[in-house]
Amino acid sequence: MKVMSIVGARPNFMKIAPLCEQFAARGIPHVLVHTGQHYDHRMSKLFFEELGIPRPDRNLGVGSGTQAEQTAEIMKRLEPVLIEEKPDLMIVVGDVTSTMAASITASKLGIPVAHVESGLRSFDRTMPEEINRLLTDAIADWHFTTEDSANENLKREGVAAEKVFFVGNTMIDTLVKHADRAATSTILETLGVAPKGYGVVTLHRPSNVDDRQNLTVIMTALHEIAREVPLVFPIHPRTRKRIDEFSLGHLVNGFIFTDPLGYLDFLRLTSQARLVLTDSGGIQEETTVLGVPCITIRENTERPVTVTRGTNILVGIDGKRIVEEGKKRLNGFDAGGAVPPLWDGHAAERIVEIIVNRICV
Ligand code: UD1
Repeated sequence: MKVMSIVGARPNFMKIAPLCEQFAARGIPHVLVHTGQHYDHRMSKLFFEELGIPRPDRNLGVGSGTQAEQTAEIMKRLEPVLIEEKPDLMIVVGDVTSTMAASITASKLGIPVAHVESGLRSFDRTMPEEINRLLTDAIADWHFTTEDSANENLKREGVAAEKVFFVGNTMIDTLVKHADRAATSTILETLGVAPKGYGVVTLHRPSNVDDRQNLTVIMTALHEIAREVPLVFPIHPRTRKRIDEFSLGHLVNGFIFTDPLGYLDFLRLTSQARLVLTDSGGIQEETTVLGVPCITIRENTERPVTVTRGTNILVGIDGKRIVEEGKKRLNGFDAGGAVPPLWDGHAAERIVEIIVNRICV
């Protein structure tokens, strides 16, 4: 048996790390392919180093481009690799362009595809990730899910129950594994903030940052919150560009900007925050497990369990709500929250057990 897995962008790396570890521990031949969608040291290699992910066997080096350019390049460059390596199973994780492009390429060559983090739906087709999720799940042969909403979505879309495995969350495997190491990070000292004395902001969704009006509304609201508490903002390259382009520099008093942080520093930072304001998918899940209040600056979430069980609230692109809910949480409002079922650090073990005993038999 030989398995291949694909990673491309930052949120993929935390999801694949525990799977790589399980394959190695069980002596299962595993080829790791990096598409090169993310290529900056801080968006890619740093995560490999910190999380102990083996050096990719192949790097397709696709780099930046439009969605179509990236998709086409990945497909073109991956096809010969698949023909040469002939894996018995292709594993894709999450919802980025690399996930979708790899699924289509493998599927067309008759290679079975297993999707980890399958079935999540925001029901918002303006998000590139939603298109990626829909296409990947439409052709995947096997579906590993993180929460019950995903099981329901797949059922409604007609996926046979025996193809769906509710296994938990490999991103949380990584969090559980590295929590102790992250606690030794000195990032708080470096940034000059004290535990529970700051908020954290991340923003990078095209719909939030590429639109002048939306980014202005969001930055104005954040600026208001930053009057009460310093906001640490590890800034995505796209967002940095837009803040300059839209001349929003006057709204950044009270912000502490950093380059994108590594995994351990970011985990330390979020775990000690009074509050996190974000448009990320993964951070909604991480804050739920950490018990830190999360305000999601989006109209919808594909991860509803973080709202129904976790510490998350959706506020939309609504300046007034961002400020109100933010201040409420700064002033002691209890965001409650419980860890969702099976988010226990053992999802990758379950996945590899199923691959060995049910899929690649
Ligand atoms: C991608 C994912 C998104 C994920 C995010 C995490 C898709 C459709 N989106 O979005 O789901 O939450 O990664 O960061 O796959 N850039 C750099 N250095 C890099 C990579 C990108 O400077 O290493 C810049 C480039 O200008 C590039 C832009 O960031 O054009 C956007 O990168 P891209 O990979 O297209 O999408 P993300 O916005 O990062």
